[in-house]
Amino acid sequence: MTERDTSPSRSGVARLSRQERFRAVPSTNDIVREWLAGGTPEVCLAVADEQTAGRGRAGRTWTAPAGAALLMSMGFRPSYLAVDRLWRLGATVALAMTDAAEEVGGLPMNSLKLKWPNDIVAVDRTAETGLRKLAGILGETEGAGTAEPRAIVGIGTNVDWARPDFPPELADSMTSLRELARGRPVSADSLLDAFLARLEPRIEALREGYFDVEGWHERQITTGRTVRLDMPDGSAIVANAVGVDGSSGGLLIEDGDAERELLAGEIVHVRLGV
Ligand code: BTN
Repeated sequence: MTERDTSPSRSGVARLSRQERFRAVPSTNDIVREWLAGGTPEVCLAVADEQTAGRGRAGRTWTAPAGAALLMSMGFRPSYLAVDRLWRLGATVALAMTDAAEEVGGLPMNSLKLKWPNDIVAVDRTAETGLRKLAGILGETEGAGTAEPRAIVGIGTNVDWARPDFPPELADSMTSLRELARGRPVSADSLLDAFLARLEPRIEALREGYFDVEGWHERQITTGRTVRLDMPDGSAIVANAVGVDGSSGGLLIEDGDAERELLAGEIVHVRLGV
């Protein structure tokens, strides 16, 4: 059962068509999907303190204790993007969140990175992989290629989550904005406001045909590194990642003497330095 909080909207952005905050829902992606199916224009936003059936990429689950993470989904009607450019919505959300998290957490500019396709990570040599995940993005589309495309971009960002409370199985691979801010409590509301303020101009630019290709390239942590790519059939590819493709959104790897491109849907998991 969905519970709705009646607190006033905190949006600093005038262009949201609808914004609701929920105490607990199964998944904010599903809320926004229903809104879009019911005719709600873009950009609509559902935020939850807790999800009871949160989803991650590649069929994984996504959980966080109530109030520890900023859990939200945005609904778009991206008739302004070609089908093979829809990935830019998720990338745009990731770029807006990296900027916002650095500001609200008081972190150095460009200290947060993107691990292809859309994880937001912090470099940490004490972690086994050298990285800790701060946020993950789940993009879903409906009607892509029709006159009425709909896209849902959900993002979960670990905010006010103290390290002793991290689940043991994730303790070596995750972080939170609070931890990156050296234990200083960080407000999810401040992060939301900062994020929305950065999202607005980026979405406006997408509508006008511009995408921040340069910013997206600069944030990539995989470029120039060895990566292990887990494939859906259980096999793995170990290769040098040489970059990303600003047209397709794909990861470029060296495969023998040739360069090869992989799309996000073809990969289950990306690991660095193996
Ligand atoms: C991943 O890294 O695997 C993607 C995680 C996406 C989680 C967010 S939380 C808000 C939205 N609702 C969901 O069910 N999933 C996304």
